[in-house]
Amino acid sequence: MSRITYVNGRYVPSREACVSVEDRGYQFADGVYEVCEVFGGALIDEDRHLERLRRSLAELKIEEPVSKAALRTILREIRARNRLRNGYLYIQATRGVAHRDHPFPDPPTRASLVVAAKSIPPEKGEAAARAGVKVTSAPDLRWKRVDIKSIALLPNVLARQAAKEKGAYEAWLIDDDGLVSEGAASNAWIVDARGVVVTRQLGHSILPGITRTTLIELIAAEGLTFEERKFSLDEALAAREAFITGATTLVMPVVDIDGKPIGDGRPGPVALKLRGLFHDFAAHSN
Ligand code: PDD
Repeated sequence: MSRITYVNGRYVPSREACVSVEDRGYQFADGVYEVCEVFGGALIDEDRHLERLRRSLAELKIEEPVSKAALRTILREIRARNRLRNGYLYIQATRGVAHRDHPFPDPPTRASLVVAAKSIPPEKGEAAARAGVKVTSAPDLRWKRVDIKSIALLPNVLARQAAKEKGAYEAWLIDDDGLVSEGAASNAWIVDARGVVVTRQLGHSILPGITRTTLIELIAAEGLTFEERKFSLDEALAAREAFITGATTLVMPVVDIDGKPIGDGRPGPVALKLRGLFHDFAAHSN
């Protein structure tokens, strides 16, 4: 992680950055987070990330720890102090510190806020995109409000670990009807048999990904055919192309699901085109 981390009002060396063992994030996963991409020094889709953070906090009735303006300043300060050019900023806000008891603290405690930076060399993502990544499927064992970006990620962690053990990069979570919800840390997309770009519609069963939202705008501007609908694992296996989106992966071609090649087993032209469009958008941000 970063050399300097923001913790509850202070900028501290990261190895000294810590929160109380009675932080409700630590004890109950009672908190939310954001991962905001930094590309060539620019914060990508900052407004959308801050708006999703506000919504996640409101859904869980957690007070905003600082104003939006103050948070913007903290993000810039952490970016500058860590000389961050490419990578991401991690924001975590929890209900704060209180003696362990399930109901909300009464009177309310001040929400905790942590902001850290992670540098990722851009070549890493580019090499992965040239080769494409592998995905494995796993049952979607999460709660019924995964539209809230909560820090309670145990099912996601277990699915990603199982994927890693099978040599895959991501897990696609499959709902009780055999339909793909999303990736454990990304949104899931296919280019279907007709050549239509497809991703699942928003609702309580997927995270409203920021990369997803921005990419839909880029797809519309490009005039590509696009549909928001559910698709099954079987349809994905028979699709022309598949890919994932997220702040850390951007648009990443998927070439293999559960050991079966997608299309000709190489990154598809639509996925690569969309990756390029997203790069152009990011390069012109800020
Ligand atoms: N994950 N779905 C899930 C379950 C996610 O965790 C993420 C992001 C996404 C994509 O959202 P966005 O485009 O806003 O990054 C979809 C982040 C990167 C993470 O947990 O590290």
